[in-house]
Amino acid sequence: MTTLRVRVWRGGRDGRFEAFEVPRGQSQTVLDVVTHIQRHLDPTLSYRFACRVGMCGSCAMTVNGTPRWTCRTHVDKVAKGGALEIGPLANLPVVKDLVCDMRDFFDKWARARGQFSPTATKADDFARVRPDSRPRLEADAGIECIGCGVCYAACDVVAWNRDYLGPAALNRAWTLVNDVRDGGQGARLAAVAGDAGCHACHTLMSCTEHCPKALSPTRAISGLKRATAAAVLSLPGDESP
Ligand code: SF4
Ligand code: SF4
Ligand code: FES
Repeated sequence: MTTLRVRVWRGGRDGRFEAFEVPRGQSQTVLDVVTHIQRHLDPTLSYRFACRVGMCGSCAMTVNGTPRWTCRTHVDKVAKGGALEIGPLANLPVVKDLVCDMRDFFDKWARARGQFSPTATKADDFARVRPDSRPRLEADAGIECIGCGVCYAACDVVAWNRDYLGPAALNRAWTLVNDVRDGGQGARLAAVAGDAGCHACHTLMSCTEHCPKALSPTRAISGLKRATAAAVLSLPGDESP
């Protein structure tokens, strides 16, 4: 039986890597490797997952130096010379081992006004939004975010500026800016226009390169830059995309 040499982060941010040997398996994912260690080698290993099918966004880790969703990352694709190094996501506090504290990440969604602000009541008819309209296409482009934090861990600006809202929160804000049913646009554009908002992005694309859902937060942030600039210049008709 062939084995993988796996180094796994233990402890908090000041912890260290611990070595394990894990049997290779067919179609084995990185999450399978972590699960094997926790179930068969060390039950005190802490990690997080739920769906195992790329929907819940809870299994992201740093694998051989790269942030990834682990449930859909096959070992064959990432193991170098039969070795894996698995750590917690960067740019977030570490609770223990592979578990990060996601509070900052989701608090920033709230700060970016990532909540839907309805304008209709239950007495109103359904909104009709043409599938081929520009706002609908823009909203569709970012709606599949699973909140995994991979883009946030990949972003250098988050590392330099802890206040920066980050690619996921800004992608969410842009999705809502394009939701014609939403009534919170003025406050949302103000929320993302500050020093820690969309204009802090350096457009280096790490978020877009690493997003497992193939979304482009970089493109969403560019849209916010245009919309916030248009709002400041009060160009009628340019405030919404
Ligand atoms: S494009 Fe902007 S948000 Fe994305 S990783 Fe680069 S600096 Fe961060
Ligand atoms: S934009 Fe992509 S990488 Fe970022 S949280 Fe959403 S799904 Fe994850
Ligand atoms: S376990 Fe849900 S996305 Fe990986």
